[in-house]
Amino acid sequence: MMVRYLLFVTVMFALSTSTVVAKEPGDTNYDEQKVPAYKLPDLLVDREGRPVGLPEWESHRRGEILRLFEESVYGATPQRKLPVTYKVVERDPNAFDGLATRKQIAAFFGDRRLRLDILLYIPNRPAKPVPAFVGLNFRGNHTVQRDPKIIRRIQRKGPKYERGASENRWPVQMLLDQGYALVTLHRDQVDPDNYKNDFADGIHPLFYDKGQKKPGPKEWGAIGAWAWSLSRVLDFLETDDRIDAKRVAVMGHSRLGKAALWAGAQDSRFAVVISNNSGCGGAALYRRCYGERIHHMLKPVPYWFCTNHQQYSKREHELPVDQHMLLALMAPRPVYVASATEDRWADPKGEFLAAKHASVAYALYGKSELSEIDMMPEPENPIHTTIGYHLRTGKHDVTAYDWQQYIKYADGFLRHE
Ligand code: GCU
Repeated sequence: MMVRYLLFVTVMFALSTSTVVAKEPGDTNYDEQKVPAYKLPDLLVDREGRPVGLPEWESHRRGEILRLFEESVYGATPQRKLPVTYKVVERDPNAFDGLATRKQIAAFFGDRRLRLDILLYIPNRPAKPVPAFVGLNFRGNHTVQRDPKIIRRIQRKGPKYERGASENRWPVQMLLDQGYALVTLHRDQVDPDNYKNDFADGIHPLFYDKGQKKPGPKEWGAIGAWAWSLSRVLDFLETDDRIDAKRVAVMGHSRLGKAALWAGAQDSRFAVVISNNSGCGGAALYRRCYGERIHHMLKPVPYWFCTNHQQYSKREHELPVDQHMLLALMAPRPVYVASATEDRWADPKGEFLAAKHASVAYALYGKSELSEIDMMPEPENPIHTTIGYHLRTGKHDVTAYDWQQYIKYADGFLRHE
């Protein structure tokens, strides 16, 4: 048992910059019969026990839920604005044989103490501002396309760090053909995602009080930092006249899907929010205790969350929130949850149920959504209502099928000519 656990920790360490699912620890439950009976916190009853309608949802319940997520899951994001300057480092109007303009922007924060490199591919047609997909990447902008002009900012070696190594996860041409820009940046520039994360590098120190060495128990971890960076990218897009910043979808896979959801929850400027296989701490319901659980994350990646989150280890039922509430924070904006059949670690059913139970918040806006769907949809049967969902056959990954769905879904909300 101990050996298996150590193996899990080692594998997680090795994979902390990877995207492959780790070997699961021995106490992982994959038996639907063993899912405990649970009661989800009621979205429409506030902390004083009062029923909530639309006016109360907007006046205080939504804010109350956001605070609960800050305090018990992700930690609070600092509200102070850092000084920022943008520098166009490279620009080529003839990328993809003239189909797109490639731009590379260096954003410098806090008197140049932090640099984020933002890569943009913008379709040249139409000539007016276009909608965009924004997402963090795992291993550097240069892995997103085999484009020799992409500036390589990390020198780490290995096949996964080669140029274009993640190309299959970023079908840029497909997006451009459909009239969308793609905007991406590397998570490690914001906050390095590794076992030794001690919050001494990345964005956190720029917000420390005098003498502070790490975030307080209810202050942001890595997911909070990644989410923060997505909003900073959106700030930049608001200054770019080729992008329609009111039509931006934020998308993320796995841990970066957790970050995309948290970004969308905090920043209502994101018009569409997409979670791909985000699992535990993302779209999946904690209380099902199926697949990955909080205690599984504590050794390898405790820094993803605020330290206060740790008190819910093996006590998921005591959390003041569950992930249907995170999805509900997007209401009435479109939010899409995607699962994969073999990604049991991320609990596909728990992801679907969170989407379904978020529907009550959407109902306040006259959108009945998934509330009438009782059975989990079959694979490759996407639902593209305001709360979208699909289950794809296959493994933990982002595939062309996933992107086809995201584009089709986004078309329904973002493509007004
Ligand atoms: C691990 C981790 C998940 C995470 C995934 C990823 O599997 O346990 O919570 O979503 O890595 O980011 O690839």
